[in-house]
Amino acid sequence: MKTIFSGIQPSGTITLGNYIGAMKQFVELQDEYSCYFCIVDQHAITVPQDRLQLRKNIRSLAALYLASGIDPEKATLFIQSEVPAHAQAGWMMQCVAYIGELERMTQFKDKSAGKEAVSAGLLTYPPLMAADILLYKADLVPVGEDQKQHLELTRDLAERFNKKYNDIFTIPEVRIPKVGARVMSLQDPAKKMSKSDPNQKAFISMLDDPKQIEKKIKSAVTDSEGIVKYDKENKPGISNLLSIYSILTERPVSEIEKDYEGKGYGDFKADVAQVVVKAIEPIQSKYYSLMESSELDDILDHGAEKANRAANKMLAKMENAMGLGRKRR
Ligand code: TYM
Repeated sequence: MKTIFSGIQPSGTITLGNYIGAMKQFVELQDEYSCYFCIVDQHAITVPQDRLQLRKNIRSLAALYLASGIDPEKATLFIQSEVPAHAQAGWMMQCVAYIGELERMTQFKDKSAGKEAVSAGLLTYPPLMAADILLYKADLVPVGEDQKQHLELTRDLAERFNKKYNDIFTIPEVRIPKVGARVMSLQDPAKKMSKSDPNQKAFISMLDDPKQIEKKIKSAVTDSEGIVKYDKENKPGISNLLSIYSILTERPVSEIEKDYEGKGYGDFKADVAQVVVKAIEPIQSKYYSLMESSELDDILDHGAEKANRAANKMLAKMENAMGLGRKRR
């Protein structure tokens, strides 16, 4: 059975973009692959976090993974900082990476732009991400489009390591969904929907209530043409809403366009809101019951145990390949 690894940062409540681009794929893949899904809290601290809020976000993300349909009997769900091999292997991968290639990462450029104090961790974020993936010999990494460049670097670092030290890493493939790989901001459809957007109206949180969802979709920026048609270049707002509708109902865009021939944006937006509410409501009800149960801690304990076992094996191979420590007796 082939292996999958993917991670989500616990840096705020996750958005509809995270769900469509990542989590929904995870749920679909867990039957066919041996899966590791991670709450990457060490990546989250590359930018300032409030400690109490971070702890809450970690728990909340674990509950959302499960509420979205991740089955702990099939997939291993765990917290990155509870598996020390990630930081250890991350350091080794930092020593394989070059500063120049890290400075060229668009996420680093975006997150550091205009800031006076940028943590060193923000620059060395991608080698830690490479370590996450390589420790589990992942064949496939399902992510949204914004992570493509990090995946390319992961492959480069793995190949460099294999050539320079020993051929121990599996070179992972990226898996980006055909529709919904880049859910856009509701307020500026040229930007991706992001949980760190200061404008709350720009994104839908997986924990928004139906009223908030309706309001946000109603005020989504569109165009003045009044025709519900997919045209990413000229109608990015409507195209974004069409993609969301299509993904959540599993109906082709062309069919949805036909339904709205002769109808205005008001009707369309009201229906998009209903589609989103219908998709999110069952997830929310499971989420709230999980947050109150001790089941969540049992699942995370078990996940950390399994992940530690797998990761430590690869860590030992990496240390051997690089000549760290002493030969094990
Ligand atoms: P993060 O936490 O920013 O996002 C988690 C996942 O959600 C996807 N995503 C989106 N997809 C579609 N439309 C959007 N608007 C949107 N916003 C986010 C992301 O592509 C991602 O798949 N570096 C990663 C976390 C990470 C990781 C890993 C991922 C750390 N180690 C190893 C895979 C494998 C990140 O910041 O994701």
